[in-house]
Amino acid sequence: MSNPVSICVIGSGYVGLVAAVCFAEMGHKVTCVDNDESRVKMLCAGGVPIFEAHLPELLNKHRGHGVDFTSDLRMAVEQSEAIFIAVGTPQGDTGAADLSYVEAVVSEIARAITGYKVIVEKSTVPVYTNEWIRRVLQRYGVDHELFDVVSNPEFLREGTAVIDFLHPDRIVVGAGSERPARLMERIYEPLTNGSYYAQAGALTGICNTESPAKLVLTSAQSAEIIKHASNAFLALKISFINAVANLAETVDADVEDIAEGIGLDSRIGSKFLQAGLGYGGSCFPKDVAAFHWVAQQQGLDFQLLQEVKKINDAQKDVFFNKVRSALWTLRGKKLAALGLAFKRDTDDIRDSPALDVIRRLIEAGASITAYDPAAMDRAKAVLPPSEKMKYAQGIYEAALDADAVLILTDWKEFAQLDLAQLNRAVRFPIVIDGRNLYKPNQMAEQGFTYVSIGRPATYNAQQGKPRKLVL
Ligand code: NAD
Ligand code: UDX
Repeated sequence: MSNPVSICVIGSGYVGLVAAVCFAEMGHKVTCVDNDESRVKMLCAGGVPIFEAHLPELLNKHRGHGVDFTSDLRMAVEQSEAIFIAVGTPQGDTGAADLSYVEAVVSEIARAITGYKVIVEKSTVPVYTNEWIRRVLQRYGVDHELFDVVSNPEFLREGTAVIDFLHPDRIVVGAGSERPARLMERIYEPLTNGSYYAQAGALTGICNTESPAKLVLTSAQSAEIIKHASNAFLALKISFINAVANLAETVDADVEDIAEGIGLDSRIGSKFLQAGLGYGGSCFPKDVAAFHWVAQQQGLDFQLLQEVKKINDAQKDVFFNKVRSALWTLRGKKLAALGLAFKRDTDDIRDSPALDVIRRLIEAGASITAYDPAAMDRAKAVLPPSEKMKYAQGIYEAALDADAVLILTDWKEFAQLDLAQLNRAVRFPIVIDGRNLYKPNQMAEQGFTYVSIGRPATYNAQQGKPRKLVL
């Protein structure tokens, strides 16, 4: 690369680690800092702390050349032109984002600044955080000429994080002046001028040399709001289709057909119209709450966001009630849970709808045998150990003698089950699918009673359709 930038990324989590290796992949010199010593040790020793496609190969390629790991923030800041803050901003008690990790990092940066730096908010933060970072730096006595603060929100999704980073729909930079804006343009230049995509071995995705990534330059406040508004809008789409799914069920319509019919309207688009257990993960729930709080601080009641959350919370009740009505009583029932992660292709279980549902079923007296291809260790660390919570090494082991099989995460392998083998393994052939991975008729033909979201239930031929019971 002709014009590499020395970059410090603070935080080596799902965003920081991906950003660090991707900047190295783009040709920059990166130091990634974390205050979790064991994580830094693991990364230095060649370990990969999270399950994320392409991450192991990129770490292997750049570790020790383009990217180094350390817990020494001062050293990393001193030697870098741009400092990306990518620490957590979890939900606080009021719904507002807890910015204490960001503040702690800023105070450490303040002590380490000796020459001009561009400080970049990569974490998802409320509007005016940019201004607060500036104020805190000045409070700590840093000369205003020694830094600029810019907002550069991150839109990657877990599971496709590396490709999303290198092939973004857009790069948003909120900068108040020319100098930091130019540095940010230099950092993203390999993606915006397409030179990265021309390289041999470049990872492929939606961008290419003809159609490179687009950078949107705006004010810091607008950039901060773009991030919150994007996540809130995507969450809204999911809650909308879940509300439609619940209506569809009452009139024997099929939400999958409805989503297709809606999504073909190019003004609406087909993405994020998958009905299911409701959205989870470390972003949508907290960002919807944080955006609502932001509006409240400005004297506005953004009620629509409360409704989005309400529908999402209720969706887990909808699923729980489906399990209950399929099985009559839950005490003593043995259930196979396929999936623990909040969605496929990740080991992340933060705010996972699967765990919510499992906790409720255990409370109601059922016992669970769970299987997830990537998230079992993390789940074991948060679900209280109990006789009622077991883990299996595979799908059919989890299903052995089960009174019903629950599909809770949309892993590809759960969509490709050997249905004959599953039928032989279970005690009763009942599948309750929170992710709509199968066609109802196909499941009935394979001898299952199949209950899903927003579609008529189907029943195995021997049992036939039961009379509708009101519990
Ligand atoms: P994470 O919890 O996975 O990682 C945060 C890391 O920061 C941890 O490794 C932690 O040890 C480290 N850290 C905390 N305090 C530190 C300090 N003082 N010094 C050095 N390191 C410190 O979080 P994440 O999922 O990567 O999210 C980070 C931010 O990015 C959040 O604001 C989140 O909302 C946003 N975001 C996340 C995603 C996502 O898909 N996870 C996508 C876009 C934006
Ligand atoms: C999200 C945003 O998509 C991403 O742009 C942002 O940077 C971080 O937050 P992520 O949390 O990784 O990414 O996952 P995403 O794919 O958006 O899914 C979030 C949740 O919504 C999951 O629980 C998923 O199962 C659910 N979902 C998604 C649906 O229920 N239906 C859909 O149609 C899409």
